[in-house]
Order: sequence, then C-alpha cells, then structure tokens
Amino acid sequence: MINNLKYILKYINYYLFAGHGRGYGIHSPFIYEYVIKVLRDRTIERKMKEINDLSSELRSEKTKVETTGFGAGSHFGKSKNLSIGNIARLSSTQKKYGNLLYRTVMFFKPKVILELGTSIGIGTSYLALPDRNANIYTIEGSEILSALAMENFSRLKISNIKQYTGEFINVLPGLLDQLPDIDLIFIDGDHREEATIKYFELCLEAVNSESVIIFDDIHWSGGMEKAWERIKKFSNVKLTLDLFRFGLVFFREEIYSKQHFRIRY
Ligand SMILES: C[S@@+](CC[C@H](N)C(=O)[O-])C[C@H]1O[C@@H](n2cnc3c(N)ncnc32)[C@H](O)[C@@H]1O
Repeated sequence: MINNLKYILKYINYYLFAGHGRGYGIHSPFIYEYVIKVLRDRTIERKMKEINDLSSELRSEKTKVETTGFGAGSHFGKSKNLSIGNIARLSSTQKKYGNLLYRTVMFFKPKVILELGTSIGIGTSYLALPDRNANIYTIEGSEILSALAMENFSRLKISNIKQYTGEFINVLPGLLDQLPDIDLIFIDGDHREEATIKYFELCLEAVNSESVIIFDDIHWSGGMEKAWERIKKFSNVKLTLDLFRFGLVFFREEIYSKQHFRIRY
C-alpha cells in the first residue's frame, strides 16, 4: 500500500479537483442521473439500517478467531488470532460505501450479482437486501470468514446469497461458466495490478451493455492505480466513474466515445 501521507494527499487532490457531487457541469445524462439519484441521496432505509447496526455491533465484538487474510489488500498482515471486531474494522465495507452499494442496487435493479471477497459478509448484505429476488454469488478464500459471513446472513434473514469458498482464480472460471450474464460485479479482494486485470478480463465474458463493475480501493496502491488506468483503456469500457474509494465501470453500447468522470462523494 502507498504510505498514509501519500494517500491523504491523493484524497485532498481528489476532493479539490473532482466534479461536483451535486452534478454541476456533468454532460453525460446517464452519469448525471446516477449522481442525482444515487450519490446525492442520503436516505437511510430500514433494511440499510439493519446492516449498519449489525456492522457497528460486529466492530466491537471481542471474540477471537484464527484466520489470515488472502491476497494483497489483506489488512490482517501475519496476525492469526484476531477479534471479529478487528476483522470487521479492517476488512468490511464502511457504512458510507455500503449504503452506496445498497442505493446502486436499488437504482440499477440487477438480478444477478457477483462479489469477489466476501470477508464476513457486510458488503454482500448491502448487495443482497434491496431485492430478495436477485441472486447474489460471492467468493471468499478463507473458510473461517465464509462461515462468519454465513452467520451474519442468517442474522439478517438473507437467503438469496450463494457462497463459494476458494481462491478467486480457481472458483471464478467455473462459476462464470454456470451463470447467465451478470448485471453487477463488486471486485473487492486481492488488490494487485495483474490479478485485478485478470479478474476483470474473466468477468468481461459475463457482462453486457447494461452491466456495471465496481472496484474497491482503486487508489489504494500504485499497482491498483495502474490497474484502474488500464481498465479505462479496454475497448468495451465506455464510461468510468472515480469516487476515489470505488471505481465504477460501464459498458453502455449507445455511448460512442469514452468518458471518464471523477465525482466527489
Ligand atoms: C476487503 S475484504 C472484502 C470485504 C467485503 N467485500 C465487504 O464489502 O465487506 C477482501 C476479502 O477478499 C479475500 N481475498 C483476497 N484475495 C483473495 C483471493 N485471491 N481468493 C479468495 N479470496 C480472496 C480476503 O480473504 C478478504 O476476506
């Protein structure tokens, strides 16, 4: 990871120079609508609040479990004996971005959703709760984290999630073969440049013009920034949206020339 000071400076640069979060001066009607209806919306629905509350509870949970994180981007380092609170704080999507995932699902209404990196299931829950008829598929390398995620899904009474435990590179090709086109993909694990590009290329086989891919931590490291720049250049990538933490990729066929936006969130 790039050092903290560099990351803060990058954030300040983003904050000062990103497009306005109220949508001023955005010439793409598609992105403008997303900004107005999703980014600007601060409503906390009852189901969102249930996940926010569970997330807060887990963050102060003292029970220890034996685990190590998988892949680059694991904040666990070499620690093996971590409290659930630590795991939640170090790896789960924060409420602000979880609420954004939830609203994004409400807006695009995806029926098939794939997540790379379940951890303890907080992000997955934000993806799954808006529509109980959507099918969510999520992959996690660590068995103990998958088991904790399963408990959390049951606490939230979520039953539209299928969990897969194993390394992305081993599970993803077979899973993609079985699935129809995927409407929304959240790539949130293994933050290395080449690995990120590899997962993106594999996922491209399963997307269509309406799909969206969301990357977490696009400015987390030099490698992730390079991966993000490479992704923007793929010929079928038409629109991208850089929210500093998340990067959204759209494939809309009706858009002829590429457009890249940085919007303050
Ligand atoms: C940042 S966490 C995911 C957080 C979760 N998506 C959320 O929103 O709360 C990343 C997860 O990906 C898993 N992971 C990282 N690299 C992996 C790989 N190559 N194969 C399988 N799992 C991996 C880690 O074990 C970790 O639990």
